[in-house]
Amino acid sequence: MYRRILVGYDGSKAGKKAFDEALDLAARDKADLYVLTVVRPPEIGDDVEGEAVIENSRDYHEKLLAPLKRPVSAKGVKGHFEVAVGHPAQQIIYRADRHKADLIVVGDRGRSKFARLLLGSVSKQVVQYAGRAVLVVR
Ligand SMILES: Nc1ncnc2c1ncn2[C@@H]1O[C@H](COP(=O)(O)OP(=O)(O)OP(=O)(O)O)[C@@H](O)[C@H]1O
Ligand SMILES: [Mg+2]
Repeated sequence: MYRRILVGYDGSKAGKKAFDEALDLAARDKADLYVLTVVRPPEIGDDVEGEAVIENSRDYHEKLLAPLKRPVSAKGVKGHFEVAVGHPAQQIIYRADRHKADLIVVGDRGRSKFARLLLGSVSKQVVQYAGRAVLVVR
């Protein structure tokens, strides 16, 4: 039985599949579900421009999470929706620690156009560095 499940969602098809699986598990176990999407900070540009870019992508990511809220409440699951700024794998691990999640769920790939790798870099790093159980949904 899981009590707190954290899923990484990037708006991709695989991310949606991971979300659906995490939601089913949360409904089954009556667990809290933390849905996290991470905004990558811009690597170039001065501070003022950087702030604007982050705000813009924060909006974009809020919109990514919006359609997930209804299915969560429809299943009677307590959902927590978060937008974080930073490195995706690092933030997923950090937030899972903070919420004391007993399971992290991610997809096998994400939004990247390069489909040559078996596992995306975010899911690979989460599996490698998280000190808790990780479910990679294929
Ligand atoms: N920005 C993000 N915020 C939250 N979760 C994410 C984010 N990026 C990826 N994930 C999670 O990790 C899974 C795998 O995505 P990943 O980014 O590793 O693959 P990719 O985009 O195909 O490859 P890469 O990003 O390494 O080029 C996604 O299905 C999602 O669950
Ligand atoms: Mg990616």
